[in-house]
Amino acid sequence: MPKVVFLTTDGSQRVADAQVGDSVMSVAVRNGIPGIIAECGGNCSCATCHVYVSDAWLQAVGGPDDMEEDLLDMGVTDRRDGSRLSCQIRMTEEFDELTVQIPTVQP
Ligand code: FES
Repeated sequence: MPKVVFLTTDGSQRVADAQVGDSVMSVAVRNGIPGIIAECGGNCSCATCHVYVSDAWLQAVGGPDDMEEDLLDMGVTDRRDGSRLSCQIRMTEEFDELTVQIPTVQP
């Protein structure tokens, strides 16, 4: 079972179990990770599930598609290289210990 490592805004680290096929957003919500609001429920329309994928995982996770790219451009306060909408990242076995940082502000 792959795990997601969330680096939270208070500087702590939370590790949560994921099922293959889960979105990172759904793992966060299920585990009460603070800072992931997910207002639209994963429909790629709110940007309140923004995370920063850690540098070590950037290549494996890949970049956003066009729709996500537009929403990141318009809806995120502090966009960086690793910015992704966590509802658009699907867990695989290979993503074990995928590490994402929660932004201090959403969206
Ligand atoms: Fe709304 Fe991800 S939950 S864009």
